[in-house]
Amino acid sequence: MSRSARVVTPVEGATQPVIAVPVIFDNDEAFVDQSVPASLGGQNVPRSFTKQWCAQQGLRDEVGSSTVIRSFAGPAIALITVGSTLNDLEHYRLAGAAAVRLAGDNSVAFLLPTDGLDEPGDVAQALVEGALLASYTFKGAREATSFDVVPLGSPLPSVESHNQVSEGVHRGAIVAEGVNWAKHLINTPAGSLTPRDLAKRALERLEQDPSVRVEAWNESRAREERLGGLLGVGQGSAQPTRLVYAVYDPRPGDAMAHVALVGKGVTFDSGGLSIKPADSMVAMKTDMTGAAVVLAALSIASRLALQVRVTAIAPMTENLLGDRALKPGDVLTARNGMTIEVLNTDAEGRLILADGLSLAVEANPDAIVDVATLTGAQRAALGDQVGAMYATTDELATYFSRASARSGELLWRMPLVAVYESHIESDVADMKNIGKTGQAGSISAALLLQRFTDGRPWVHLDIAGPGRAEATKGYVTKGGTAFSARTIVQFLRDVAEAAQPS
Ligand code: BES
Ligand code: MN
Ligand code: ZN
Repeated sequence: MSRSARVVTPVEGATQPVIAVPVIFDNDEAFVDQSVPASLGGQNVPRSFTKQWCAQQGLRDEVGSSTVIRSFAGPAIALITVGSTLNDLEHYRLAGAAAVRLAGDNSVAFLLPTDGLDEPGDVAQALVEGALLASYTFKGAREATSFDVVPLGSPLPSVESHNQVSEGVHRGAIVAEGVNWAKHLINTPAGSLTPRDLAKRALERLEQDPSVRVEAWNESRAREERLGGLLGVGQGSAQPTRLVYAVYDPRPGDAMAHVALVGKGVTFDSGGLSIKPADSMVAMKTDMTGAAVVLAALSIASRLALQVRVTAIAPMTENLLGDRALKPGDVLTARNGMTIEVLNTDAEGRLILADGLSLAVEANPDAIVDVATLTGAQRAALGDQVGAMYATTDELATYFSRASARSGELLWRMPLVAVYESHIESDVADMKNIGKTGQAGSISAALLLQRFTDGRPWVHLDIAGPGRAEATKGYVTKGGTAFSARTIVQFLRDVAEAAQPS
């Protein structure tokens, strides 16, 4: 993971071994923008390509499709399809990913025509995000390489768009680095990433971030704080639980929008005594995705100096079946005093989030967002490409839909409907931790969580499906995806912007 991103001039860009050129398809005709130099590193680049030539080269009217023109000496020219509309951010992410995949261990310069762009900054950000997210490998890259963005215009890019591209490249690099950090935690085996390890890695990073205060609570602190849900789940494991509490406050003392983020940090989910079948357990090192996502989002917000206060709360535990493990039928008392009957120890995420959300309420934020690989039912309903979003206000839902449209992380709003409250009624406690078998499992989990939000504006993201990718595709790499981290960052940017006096 050692690819960096920079803005360079056309002359510098021409010295890279691979030069990527966006190709626009329009009615079966393929062409490059007029601002692309007619000659690159001694190679001629035609303005347009016939249908026959494209077919011969395998260059299709499909975003991210590519072909390489090579000569004996000089750079490889990689032609990459960006579609027919110039302003779709996702197209540039896919193009950035295609460019680095073609380049392999080489550095690459991407020529970016800016004249037709509505938002050159966000386009550059998307391009860099795609390139750097696709460059992630768990084992680490062999060579330090760069992804150079070359802003073009005719005859030159305007000073304004050049500056916007520079800022966008900077943002894209920060976002992708933070998301890749989260992906790395998610992909790290549970044996090497216990709750203690995860908390330590979070502290190591966040202690370096500007304007961030961070603490890791140990078990005795968790007991003092009455975190009955977290301690209950943790008691089946020899590994002590942790809770990371981080606050990013760019201007302490000033009135500012405040968002609290809560993330599920189950470093391994065996199911507990309600044990999972072997096949379902294999991927459960990724069950701390929510924690990684919210901590990465806070870190990125601080590195981007977003003008919004962010609190991130990440309860961390293993869900195992040691001799002190929770037993089906046990009743836990969460931080806010509500009691939960545990009828299935595999529905552990909601138990630790109950405490996390209670703490979030006490921080008195304007909105609460939680992220969790919470239910197999979410995966069954929406698959591995779409996350479930629950929101208690239409305004928050609109914010998230907009942020999701920009990030390319698809979300679908689910109904947070009171009719299913009956599914979590308990005879012995305020609620039970499972709903009706085979019915609305993601919704009943959301309804349980809602009881810990004290009526605050709240968004819940159930990302059990899209949290993990079975194969590398586009800019998504196989394994942990850190899905929703980029959407949350975009949301925080939008909140900060809306709160700015205009
Ligand atoms: N971590 C799982 C959910 C999950 C499933 C994440 C598949 C990623 C992929 C969660 O803790 C769980 O086990 N949920 C149970 C709840 C049930 C017992 C009510 C489930 O969905 O089966
Ligand atoms: Mn579980
Ligand atoms: Zn789980």
